[in-house]
Amino acid sequence: MRSKIVAGNWKMNNDANASKTLANELVAGLKDKSLQNTRVVVAPTFVNLTAVHEVVSGSVVEVAAQNMHQAKSGAFTGEISAEMLTSIGLKSVILGHSERREYFGETDALLAEKVTAALANGLEVIFCFGELLEDRKSENHFAVVESQISNALFSLDAGAWKQLVLAYEPVWAIGTGETATADQAQEMHAFIRKIVADKYDAALAEEVSILYGGSCKPGNAKEIFSKEDVDGGLIGGAALQAADFIAIIEAIQ
Ligand code: 13P
Repeated sequence: MRSKIVAGNWKMNNDANASKTLANELVAGLKDKSLQNTRVVVAPTFVNLTAVHEVVSGSVVEVAAQNMHQAKSGAFTGEISAEMLTSIGLKSVILGHSERREYFGETDALLAEKVTAALANGLEVIFCFGELLEDRKSENHFAVVESQISNALFSLDAGAWKQLVLAYEPVWAIGTGETATADQAQEMHAFIRKIVADKYDAALAEEVSILYGGSCKPGNAKEIFSKEDVDGGLIGGAALQAADFIAIIEAIQ
């Protein structure tokens, strides 16, 4: 059975103290909850990964990085490699976030390289994609999502998919307060599962967790998560408050 996952992408928020405080609040708030087949992941900034990892050690909370460089090492000032992430005990990395695509020029081709490097180092990849508002208005959203997934992921062999989590994040819903309706999310998630089944096979597609991201909040999480092909969420703003993030985790139980 595929896992349910609620992941918090902290983006460029929370200094060292705030990161540790939030991590401590999550550990305390989740301590007595029995989570059924549900993983909880947080993705702090690079400089706070180690501290947060220490705080959550022994708890249900896992830690992911928000990005990484595709090379093993070398003259890439300011960058972080997959090996550096695994060397501090991390098991997951987010790749392909729309903010990386939009503000840092990350292309499908570059993301394919990053995914390959992450998987080769044993990291799980939470791979993000999603259409712009104009794509949806022009009814191009399925084609855009299909090309993002196929360009970055469809050259992988079937075995690699065990290390992949997909995150559909319609760009028009990120940080805007505007959410895809539960039906829009379900429609896209079912489409994604179908293209993966067509490329690989139905059993593989059934095992892939597909998260929804984009203004997911305590008030709308339950309805979105109730949909058959929605296996959890990648949460931005609402992951910055422990109470909200925990309420979203409870919404998937
Ligand atoms: P918001 O939840 O703030 O819309 O952000 C979603 C997101 O980008 C998660 O990666």
